Amino acid sequence: MTVTRAPLINVRGLSKRYPVGTLRRRMLYAVDEVDLTIGEGECVGLVGESGCGKSTLARVLARLIDPTSGEIELSGVEIGTISAKRFGGSSLRGDIQVVFQDPTESLNPGFTVFQAIADPLKRLVGGSSQDITDLVLAALDDVGLPREYGSRYPHQLSGGQKARVGIARAIAVKPKLLVLDEPTSALDVSVQSLILHLLAKLQKQRGMSYLFVSHDLNVVRLLCDKIAVMYLGRIVEFGQSKSVFHEPRHPYTRALIDAIPDAGRKNADRTKLEGSASSPIDPDQNACRFTGRCPVELPICTKAMPPLTSLGNGSLVACHRAIEGNP
Ligand SMILES: Nc1ncnc2c1ncn2[C@@H]1O[C@H](COP(=O)(O)OP(=O)(O)O)[C@@H](O)[C@H]1O
Ligand SMILES: [Mg+2]
Repeated sequence: MTVTRAPLINVRGLSKRYPVGTLRRRMLYAVDEVDLTIGEGECVGLVGESGCGKSTLARVLARLIDPTSGEIELSGVEIGTISAKRFGGSSLRGDIQVVFQDPTESLNPGFTVFQAIADPLKRLVGGSSQDITDLVLAALDDVGLPREYGSRYPHQLSGGQKARVGIARAIAVKPKLLVLDEPTSALDVSVQSLILHLLAKLQKQRGMSYLFVSHDLNVVRLLCDKIAVMYLGRIVEFGQSKSVFHEPRHPYTRALIDAIPDAGRKNADRTKLEGSASSPIDPDQNACRFTGRCPVELPICTKAMPPLTSLGNGSLVACHRAIEGNP
């Protein structure tokens, strides 16, 4: 069943370009004209190869960095035009929190666990020191860390425990949206599944929305309601996890799924990705980004960029062949 929820965050035409080269006249298109909606209480997965722009999109959306252009609406309020610096100092900061990939890097080594969790609470929520203490202890309980760990420093924690602190710190301020950038990829496999279960439980309990970034489609499929597939800065497919996984319409999505061992497709039907993605620097805006690598390319693919188009099953796809009904 397709559940439609009120949009929490609505992104339109979002781009982030970086000037590169000695003259800084060439442009690297890290994120290019992205449209994305995340509903209230919805978990949206963002997948794609390394370098396709996932972290950049996550950081722009979380307002840690400024977009080059485009709109970001949070509960109907335009936040894309507020500078990242001003956003960081505003009351809106508490609405979007981020969990980073490497908990070692994101935790201040000089802060105890208690201080790490209390710091954003003091800045964003406020209250008496007893209020703050109560909220920190509740956050520790929520992520399954014993309360006495509050007095420990990051170097006294395991990778999984550090990840739990990173999550506790982010959820303590009760965000509406949690942006998770590959939150388990620095962890041992056995710890990864514990953290994923914790994240799934917290999302259900609190009704938060997630933007869950991962290069692992298998992880995203289990955790997320919807999947956005990104290729060279653009969303090429977006839809319910089940539809995207079982009826992928974009040849790149098919290749990602076929790269998963035992994904259920026969070897003969598998799409194999050859070569590597083309350059994100000044890419041809009148061609599909996947040309040259696409196994089902048409002549039109090098002449026009396929728009993200509804196929009627709830999925959106940017592929001339799929749009023409000939996948
Ligand atoms: N601060 C920056 N300056 C210049 N280029 C950047 C910067 N951040 C990211 N990029 C480039 O943007 C593209 C997308 O990077 P990123 O968002 O980190 O991808 P992913 O998270 O999918 O691996 C890459 O080509 C990367 O080199
Ligand atoms: Mg990344």
